[in-house]
Amino acid sequence: MTDFAIIGFGSRGTLFAGYIKENANMRLTAVVDVCEEQLVLAQKEYGVSADRCYRDYRDFYRAGKIADAVIVASQDADHYAHTIPALEAGYDVLLEKPVANRLEDCIGIRDKANALHRKVMVCHVLRYSHFYDFVKKIIDGGEIGRVININQTENVGYWHYAHSFIRGAWRNSDTSSPMILAKCCHDLDIITYLIGSDCESISSFGNLTYFKEENAPNGSAAYCFKCPLKDKCVFNCLKIYNDRNWMVLGSRSQLSADCMEELEEKLKDENNPFSRCVFRCDNNVVDHQEVEMLYKNGATAHLTMTPFSEECTRTLNVHGTAGEIEGDMEKKMISVTVFGKGRREIDLAKLGLDFHCHGGGDKKLLNDFAEYISGKENIRALTTIDKSIESHLMCFAAEKSRLANGKPFEVLRGEKI
Ligand SMILES: NC(=O)c1ccc[n+]([C@@H]2O[C@H](COP(=O)([O-])OP(=O)(O)OC[C@H]3O[C@@H](n4cnc5c(N)ncnc54)[C@H](O)[C@@H]3O)[C@@H](O)[C@H]2O)c1
Repeated sequence: MTDFAIIGFGSRGTLFAGYIKENANMRLTAVVDVCEEQLVLAQKEYGVSADRCYRDYRDFYRAGKIADAVIVASQDADHYAHTIPALEAGYDVLLEKPVANRLEDCIGIRDKANALHRKVMVCHVLRYSHFYDFVKKIIDGGEIGRVININQTENVGYWHYAHSFIRGAWRNSDTSSPMILAKCCHDLDIITYLIGSDCESISSFGNLTYFKEENAPNGSAAYCFKCPLKDKCVFNCLKIYNDRNWMVLGSRSQLSADCMEELEEKLKDENNPFSRCVFRCDNNVVDHQEVEMLYKNGATAHLTMTPFSEECTRTLNVHGTAGEIEGDMEKKMISVTVFGKGRREIDLAKLGLDFHCHGGGDKKLLNDFAEYISGKENIRALTTIDKSIESHLMCFAAEKSRLANGKPFEVLRGEKI
């Protein structure tokens, strides 16, 4: 039996609570959240006793060690403060990405975990998704030869971008993380995993081009519910949430509602950040970014991050010396071409797999983490803190390059940081 405590009982915290609830070998014994409503939810839906629900993480740590592991699923800027005491109190930690929103805090968490011999895994869930698992196995099987370059596009989706990166929790790097860290640490991690080498140097271009006031359509208003153009605007929040009323990432209190009418009322409140015009927010994160990577083994990679897409999906091309792989994660399609021998299509949707959340990755990661901390042997442990820190070093170097107009930077490690 593995006992978990969760700090940050929002979208991610409750998702993991759901998986724990359905697993006979796991138990949720404590929850921390500043929001009373979420603590009530922990008691009613997940059976956590009232005296094990805390509004202040310091009270949780004062209670002594009352679980085997802590899941840190609070917002990016709180990860360091919530994780360090967990390590000091003897907990292993499943830590949401990004590790932290500042380089020194990422390093601090890694070093503290290693010094105290705690097991920390980071939620780089793509490594556990069926899609990337298949791609990795094809590469490791050798049929496309040695990987020479990878081209990945992170299609954020215009509606997801509007929700999270214009109106939502990750809109401003001063209070959260730069886009490359908040969203694309997944991409830099998975590309590095597929290439199987360390990134040597990196360069990046990108900026906030479109979602700013100068591009607001003539006659538009500051809030969707007041806007005369709302029926024609794809970013109209009333439309976005009507089509996708499940989308509450980073925003449960402002958006969770029992019915559309209740949600519409919430979106008619000028104090609700999600009711704002996408051209008139306090966002500063980029709305498009390119990253170029050179690896120690000579391979190269390119990432495009764009919100200007209908679907929220990752598309991928892997070019090897003997063949190539093409894939679309959302479509669950992978095609493999071996040069001179034709092409075969793999339709993952037909394989009867569980694709819930990040293509099945979230649940598989949690299960692997539980086995990892139980001391079992031959565990995959694909996203340990030492492995995960790599993409973070790359993200900080890429952001430095972007701010220096694309100048290449070495990815610094160890003493050089
Ligand atoms: N692995 C992934 O693919 C993935 C996907 C989405 C989000 N995330 C990451 O997961 C984390 C949580 O994201 P989310 O969408 O669940 O956000 P969320 O806002 O829905 O949840 C955060 C919760 O933390 C609570 N909280 C705020 N301050 C707190 C404090 N001081 N102490 C305790 N609780 C506090 C909030 O009330 C909220 O319930 C973020 O770091 C985010 O970047 C990871």
